[in-house]
Formats: sequence, C-alpha cells, structure tokens
Amino acid sequence: MFIKTDQCLGVGVNFRNEIGNDIIHHINEIDFIEVNTERFFVDKNNLHLDKILKKIPLVLHGLTLSVGADQPIEQTYLDNLSSTLSSVNCAWFSEHISMTSINGIEVRALMPVSFNEDSIERIVNKTKTIMSKTDKNFLLENITYYYSMPNSKMNEAAFITEVIERSDCGMLLDVNNLYVNSINHHYDPYDFLEQIPKERIVEVHLAGCDYRYDMLVDTHASQIKKEVLELFKYLCSNADIKGVVIERDSNLDSFSDLIDEVRLVRDILKKNSRARN
Ligand SMILES: [Fe+2]
Repeated sequence: MFIKTDQCLGVGVNFRNEIGNDIIHHINEIDFIEVNTERFFVDKNNLHLDKILKKIPLVLHGLTLSVGADQPIEQTYLDNLSSTLSSVNCAWFSEHISMTSINGIEVRALMPVSFNEDSIERIVNKTKTIMSKTDKNFLLENITYYYSMPNSKMNEAAFITEVIERSDCGMLLDVNNLYVNSINHHYDPYDFLEQIPKERIVEVHLAGCDYRYDMLVDTHASQIKKEVLELFKYLCSNADIKGVVIERDSNLDSFSDLIDEVRLVRDILKKNSRARN
C-alpha cells in the first residue's frame, strides 16, 4: 500500500553544473535540490553537489528508465540505481511516463506512450520492479506530448490514473506539462485535476513554456506563466504537496530571477496549504 512520505521539503530547483556556484551562494533561500538520478551513476564526486548536499535535502529525478518501452529494465540500470539509492540520502525518487530507449537505442528525448492497456501493464510491471528495491517513495511524472500516439484507447487522465493506482506508486505532477498539453490537445486542465488521484501527488514541477509557431512547448527557458501559477494555486488547496521544483534549464540572465520565483511559489504553497487545512 502506498504510504506518502511525511517529509515536507518546500520549494527547490533542479541542479545544473552551470548554476552550481549560484545555488551554493543562495543556499539559504533554496529548500531542496533535485538532481538527475543518472548523474550519480557517473559523476560521484561533484564538488558543487558535495557542498550543496551538506546543507539541503535531495530528491532524485530519472531520465533513462524508459518505463513505457516494450523491453525489460537493463540489469546495469538496476545495479546503478540500487547502489545510488543506498549511497545517497534522497527523500524520494521519480521518473517520467515515457520511452527514452527502444531495443537498446537511446532516443535522448521523452517519447510519449500509447494510452492503452498494453502500455499500462508494461509500466506497472517495471514500476513494481523498481519499488521492490527500496522503501522510498517512487513517483511517476506526466510528460508533454506534441502528437497523439497510435493505438491510444483512453484519455490522458484515465491512463495516468490507471498507471499510478495499479503501480501503487506516487505521482510527480508537472503542472506546466499539464497546462501545455491542455492547450495543444484542447482539454480543460481543471477537469484533468478532478480525474487523477490527487492524494498520491508528492511532488510538483513548475516551469516556463513558450510558443514555437502554433504549438506551446515546454522549454524550461522562461518564467512560469500566470495560468500555470493559477493551476498550481488550485492544486495546493486540493492536495498535500510535499515539494515543488522549479525547472529552469536555460535563458536565465540573473540567478536572482529564479530566487524570486522560489519565493513567490513558496508563498503560494504556504498560503493555499493553510487554506486546505
Ligand atoms: Fe517536469
């Protein structure tokens, strides 16, 4: 049975080497750090991270598990994950509901899966394998998709709900991804929030998105949109969120802009969580 962590981490950012010094400099204003799981497979002695992890908690966020692919999890991946989970102190860890490699070929992108029973079974089986390695909460994240996969038989919210509930895992809800998908695929994001198991949401991602021609794209390269903050506000008053990460990967002129967003999001989280209680 899924038991949500009672650790509430606050508001953090995703780690990149380029902003390592800035994070250290502003460490008292950042509640926790999210680091790509795979970084610990290869980069075991990062000087920035060594300093950061002495001060603030860590969550892991994977990119290459490829839960949606029709192939077993590679043993090397499982070995690396097990040794990382036992050597670093993370509050929880997560992955995307996607395919990132097929038959050993890495696509280096998060590809969507077909919303159907076969995908659900594949993802549930792999998620259970991962969860058998640890007692820590494991979360699956909704991704953006810019085309509909063939053979989809259900809508996105119903698909994600089946995946999360049958896996008996937690959810990382990327509110920006939800907003982007709702615009590109013409649905109501608030309806989506009504359908998914909100009690299983542990972590939230927020980020910026931008139009590329006539499509909204999850760029992580601009400020969080006000529509996304509105959705987040609604979510905070309806779900017990344990941590929020602002994902910013590029186009950041001044690190203090990111710190301003951390403060703003922390304020929304506190005020609206209080209103829920
Ligand atoms: Fe995300």
